[in-house]
Amino acid sequence: MTTTGNSDPLPFTPQIARETADVYRKVAHVVPEIEWPVHAPYVQAINALKREMNAVILAHNYMTPEIFHCVADFVGDSLQLAREAAKTDAALIVQAGVHFMAETSKILSPEKTVLIPDPQAGCSLAASITATDVRLLRPKYPRLPIVTYVNTSADVKAECDVCCTSSNAVAVVEDIAREWGVDEVVMVPDEFLAQNVAEQTAVKIITWKGHCEVHERFTAADIRAFRSSSPGVVVLAHPECPPEVIAEADFAGSTSGMIGYVGKHRPHRVVLVTECSMSDNVAAEYRDIEFVRPCNLCPYMKRITLPKILHSLQSLTVEVTVDPAVAARARASVERMLAVGSARPRASVAA
Ligand code: 13P
Ligand code: SF4
Repeated sequence: MTTTGNSDPLPFTPQIARETADVYRKVAHVVPEIEWPVHAPYVQAINALKREMNAVILAHNYMTPEIFHCVADFVGDSLQLAREAAKTDAALIVQAGVHFMAETSKILSPEKTVLIPDPQAGCSLAASITATDVRLLRPKYPRLPIVTYVNTSADVKAECDVCCTSSNAVAVVEDIAREWGVDEVVMVPDEFLAQNVAEQTAVKIITWKGHCEVHERFTAADIRAFRSSSPGVVVLAHPECPPEVIAEADFAGSTSGMIGYVGKHRPHRVVLVTECSMSDNVAAEYRDIEFVRPCNLCPYMKRITLPKILHSLQSLTVEVTVDPAVAARARASVERMLAVGSARPRASVAA
């Protein structure tokens, strides 16, 4: 049997065609029929193997549709995946997402085996700050709590007081400021997320200069261009975008916040100002909605493919490990965030 992502593709047989026909229907709207023979043998092999191995696949909303809809057991934004990692009974977790997400799963489930199909699946935000950087911030702001975005390494989480995601950042900032009795916090490493949070709270925020290389590319001019080329389009944006983009959007929220908005409001025409695969995943479900699709791909998320997921299960690689002492301190930051309560997607900024 083929065991690596680089080997010859698995063959598509009439039996596989029959047995995967129901799964294909879920993605038929966004995966052309001519592509299905490439994906189907992997979909079938992965689904059989994960049942045999008592494994779960946790997939981020940016995974491609054949992963998101065809092999994932749980899908969601960073907060939902962290919650799922904390409560799953499965002995083996395959993280279809980037490295910091796999580390978060390991931090929350140290007794489980966590695999990442490609360890090079990084993140420009996570790469923008180190534990040493955080240690150097402490003497500069001795009385202020340090909040870290979840898009960081375990080492950075271990040095910070609490973690947050894009769906709970305002609540976390307000909660930690109240607990410390301060009106200011340090928030690392995403400058734009920090600025967007500062727009929604009285707590002052000192930030870092990290950026998401996918979302920093969007501009206010892009949003105006979507509105003039696609009249009536509803604009949903991720808070990792620059504040000028959020100011032009109809709604800002985490990836799942945006999906929730589409499901609730059923706009006739919508643009998701975020990573490209998300539109495909949502369009597969809401076939009557027209999606305007700017295509900014996250090169790290796109390293995760079906052949690599299969190889990961077959070879039990690449196992994610976190030094137990670091994990214990990082867990305190993540658990403190989980205790703050459920996701609080941002309300509509316009309209
Ligand atoms: P979410 O938590 O909104 O899914 O964001 C994760 C991410 O990496 C966005 O770029
Ligand atoms: Fe990191 Fe941006 Fe990719 Fe999300 S989209 S994983 S923040 S580089």
